[in-house]
Amino acid sequence: MSRRKLRVGVLFGGKSSEHDVSLVSARSVMAAIDKTRYEVVPVGIERDGHWLRGGDPMAQLTAGEYASPLPAAQLAQDAAPPRVDFAFLAGETAVQLVNGASSPMAPQVDIIFPVLHGPMGEDGTVQGLLDLVNIPYVGCGVLASALGMDKLVCKAAFAAQRLPQVPYVGLLRRRWEAEPDAVLAELEAQLPYPMFVKPANMGSSVGISKAHNRLELAAGLHEAARYDRKLVVEQGVDGREIELSVLGNDDDVLVSLPGEVVPGNEFYDYAAKYLLDNSQLLIPAPLTPALTQEAQALARAAYLALDGAGLARVDLLLDRGSERLFINEINTMPGFTSISMYPKLWEASGLAYGALIERLLELALARHADRQRNVTTR
Ligand SMILES: Nc1ncnc2c1ncn2[C@@H]1O[C@H](COP(=O)(O)OP(=O)(O)O)[C@@H](O)[C@H]1O
Ligand SMILES: [Mg+2]
Repeated sequence: MSRRKLRVGVLFGGKSSEHDVSLVSARSVMAAIDKTRYEVVPVGIERDGHWLRGGDPMAQLTAGEYASPLPAAQLAQDAAPPRVDFAFLAGETAVQLVNGASSPMAPQVDIIFPVLHGPMGEDGTVQGLLDLVNIPYVGCGVLASALGMDKLVCKAAFAAQRLPQVPYVGLLRRRWEAEPDAVLAELEAQLPYPMFVKPANMGSSVGISKAHNRLELAAGLHEAARYDRKLVVEQGVDGREIELSVLGNDDDVLVSLPGEVVPGNEFYDYAAKYLLDNSQLLIPAPLTPALTQEAQALARAAYLALDGAGLARVDLLLDRGSERLFINEINTMPGFTSISMYPKLWEASGLAYGALIERLLELALARHADRQRNVTTR
């Protein structure tokens, strides 16, 4: 008798401005999961935070412009999934988290792949929920997810490990709004132009701008302050953008070959990332063996500094003048379509997209099993 297939809940959409990016990543993941070994249970999250499960929530979130890879029988069951606050059954233990007494039964899942980018998904919130329900999930836990999402706290964690970073200043939106002139003067005293202005908690370059002068700096702070209560201003580097994929749990991690992004715009902004198709990915990045090794060591160190699990993509800046490498950021749920940098780097390193997904599911189960070893009594 063969055991029933493991049910993989794939979470997508979400309450972040990276909602659409998540849908694209999740479609790739659901298409590639080995259906002979796993059953896919799609769970969509609407922009307002309601969860859709049962039937075909992807079709609902994309208004029909999507050919589902799921079996027709599964889709026919429930064309219009009910909206609930959230709902799962965890393995055989039947923990049910449903708001609203009249909600129908939640789907049973054995493992979750949260294909969510940005706040309320990649930042530890969903990871905390899944920990509470005790469901294994792909990727980093609460701490690494939260650290990775907050550019300011993340910089502090990297600094504690003496990892190289560009000079930066952090500030509260409150302060900027209360004393704009003083803030501008302080920033100009501390950092040369061009500067990069960023919301501390965001992704996909949303809310990020490059400032060449005071006018642009003020406009950039105003824009970034729409997205977060904490802001980061960094010294701009004339740099090449080098990215590496990290895969593993604890200190048992693999680091891919480095790749390079050549942005089609002045920097790798939202349009260059998703709209214009004018950027290039170079895989592997044309780097000397010494720089390749240094980049790989930095990526590993950044992952360990955050106590990463499962996966992360570590993004570096390589200063063209000095040839120095700086850590720019870590993404704990990087873009995950089959043509995204993260899986492409693994493909170039010998691990195909489908096998990568399988490996991530295994890592999630292993990490969960390891956590079950912890004694909870004295
Ligand atoms: N200090 C910097 N110097 C030069 N370019 C930068 C700097 N910071 C960010 N950029 C550019 O802005 C892009 C987005 O910034 P990043 O910090 O990676 O934010 P996100 O998390 O939104 O991807 C980078 O890919 C790069 O093109
Ligand atoms: Mg980035």
